[in-house]
Formats: sequence, C-alpha cells, structure tokens
Amino acid sequence: MSAHRIGEATIYRGDCLEILPTLGPVDHMITDPPYESVIHRAAAEGRIQRTDGQAPPRGFEFDGIDAIRDEAARTMVAAARGWLLAFALAEGVGAWRDAIQAASGKWDTTLCWVKPDATPRFNGQGAARGFECIVSAWCGTGHRRWQGGGKRGVFTHPTAKGGHPTAKPLALMMALVQLYTRPGDLICDPFMGSGTTGVAAIALGRRFVGIEIEPGYHEIARRRLEARVAQPLLPFDVPATHQPVLALEDAG
Ligand SMILES: C[S@@+](CC[C@H](N)C(=O)[O-])C[C@H]1O[C@@H](n2cnc3c(N)ncnc32)[C@H](O)[C@@H]1O
Repeated sequence: MSAHRIGEATIYRGDCLEILPTLGPVDHMITDPPYESVIHRAAAEGRIQRTDGQAPPRGFEFDGIDAIRDEAARTMVAAARGWLLAFALAEGVGAWRDAIQAASGKWDTTLCWVKPDATPRFNGQGAARGFECIVSAWCGTGHRRWQGGGKRGVFTHPTAKGGHPTAKPLALMMALVQLYTRPGDLICDPFMGSGTTGVAAIALGRRFVGIEIEPGYHEIARRRLEARVAQPLLPFDVPATHQPVLALEDAG
C-alpha cells in the first residue's frame, strides 16, 4: 500500500477492501466499481464495439464486481457517515440493494445516467444499452441531505474519452458531487480508476481520498489530480444545473 498526498486529496494504491477499513470515517462514498461480470465476459469475448474511434476493450485488467460486491458494500457502508453512490448496470441494482441493506445502509433510490452517444447494437438482435444506473443509500444517522430539491435523478451526458476504458464524464461526477455533498466534505472513491471523482471533488472545494489497485490507472489519477490542484476552485455555490459543465471537461 502506498499513499500520496496532493493538496486536499490523498490517493492510495492497493486493494480497497484491505485499505478502506484502515482509514478513518469519510463523509460520502461516490464510486464507480467494476461493472457486473456480464460486461466483463462480453469484453473478453470481443463483443463490445465503439463508434467514437477508440479501441473497444478486449477484456479488462480487473474482475467484475459480483464476487466482492457484498464485502465492498459492507466496507463502504461502515466507513461512510453520509451518502453512498455507486454506479451499476441495471442487472446489478437488486444485488446492490440487498448488499447495502444487509450492511445496514438505508437504501434510497436509483439514479440514471443517459448516454446519448452510446454505441448501437450492431447485430440487430435487440436494443443497445443506452444508460447506466447509480444506486444511492444513506449510511449516516438523521435526515438524508441533498442539494437538489425535487430534481429527478436523471442525468444526460456524453460518454467520457480518456485514459480509462470505463472513465465517467467529469460533468456527471461534478453534478453528483454538487447535489450530494457540501464544500469541505471528505469524499471517498475506493474504485478510483483514473480519478474522475477526485478531480470533480477537488474542483468543487471538497476533500478527497481515492484507492486504485492498478498501478497504471493510479498513475493517471495522480497526474490528473496534480493538474487540478494547480488550478483555482470552481464556483461551488452555483447550483449544478447552472454550471457551464461542458466547458469544464478536462482532457482526461
Ligand atoms: C469502473 S473503473 C473506475 C473508473 C473511474 N470512474 C474513472 O473515471 O476513471 C473501476 C476501477 O476499480 C479498480 N478496482 C477493481 N478492484 C479494486 C479493488 N479491490 N481495490 C481498488 N481498486 C479496484 C479497477 O482497477 C478499475 O480501475
């Protein structure tokens, strides 16, 4: 395990199931764990295609979430004092709900990320996937707090292009950070990948702790966070819906 401090961010390289229990509590978990194994199998069998010029994944360096979901949910619920947000395929939402509730997290709802540029299904044997889910649960005591009023949990953002095969759009992560957290809060992403959650958190005046097991992705996250820390904060008291988010996308 190695820790690296970058401004208000600390990132670790290693297995989050081992590292997370050794850290103190955090305010919120906002994370993008590996997808369900169905997608990992499709990638390994060369059944994923892309239309954006990027090479389609031929398998991932990491396994699907299924085998470690229960332990990941237990570990994250135990460490969080506020929200747990985790990306999932629709197929994984029920399993996430069961795992979070078994860990005594308070299930809230499922949000939806609509991908207007999702790859069509080329074999014509059914609909292409055009969205991902984000499961949400409250891990603290007292009232759940968010900054969205009565807003619907539906977000439309083009997919991200960058140094990680499943990187999330920075604009989407910024919207989640603004809606679910407050300036100064400590946000944790135990499946950090290339660090998009951390870049969004730091840009908006939150603190961040991230964990990534793959050295190459950890290195990308380190570079992105260093670049972000060197820039001024964004106006974090402006509602998410009013942020000029498209202009804020980084090159990844
Ligand atoms: C879906 S990706 C996250 C992508 C990220 N949201 C981004 O924008 O780049 C999930 C990441 O979790 C990492 N991972 C898988 N198992 C892990 C574990 N046990 N501990 C820490 N990281 C892990 C993988 O290496 C992968 O980079």
